[in-house]
Amino acid sequence: MGSMEDLRVTECTRCPALVDSRSRIVNGTGPADADVLFVGEGPGAREDERGEPFVGRSGSVLDDQLRIVGLDRDAVRITNCVRCRPPDNRDPTTDELENCRGYLESEIDRLDPAVIITLGKVPSEHLLERSVAVTKEAGAIEEIRIDGTPRRLVVCVHPAATLYDRSQEETFAAAIERAADVAGVDGTESDQTRLDGFDRSG
Ligand code: URA
Repeated sequence: MGSMEDLRVTECTRCPALVDSRSRIVNGTGPADADVLFVGEGPGAREDERGEPFVGRSGSVLDDQLRIVGLDRDAVRITNCVRCRPPDNRDPTTDELENCRGYLESEIDRLDPAVIITLGKVPSEHLLERSVAVTKEAGAIEEIRIDGTPRRLVVCVHPAATLYDRSQEETFAAAIERAADVAGVDGTESDQTRLDGFDRSG
């Protein structure tokens, strides 16, 4: 298993537009042996400022849902398809996604996660290598191959989608729940209820 340092990109100038727009390279965070890997699109303004993925409004939505399903943010790994903030928050281009693909693939390879959750259309299409209707496909478990190794992937809507459209909240929550199930995470409220019951009767 690689160390966290191995998973960091410290110098890269492959994408001229992103070199201009970024203040820093935003690497993935979380343990180098996490079972669960979230993959977003790319850093936004807050992430670029702080040097950490999902620390803005989308990050709060993600954190809340992680807590609900019993996943601790400190126990999961969170990364992005591109590590530098695109100008004006535009989507990364195909070239930019390809330029950064090797970094993402080595992160996946070294982490060896039980499940990868793609947050939104860009990461879903990037890793599945096909077009994806994320709202319709959210919660679907897919198998992808990275360097020949099969990996389980759960499609999810982007957390920001729940901020624009409240009806996406349930879709988002159900997909994260499904991913926690696939990863074998068992921190649900029902367990807590059972424990509480046991304590009282003991
Ligand atoms: N949206 C993303 O896709 N990634 C981040 O890191 C933050 C917001």
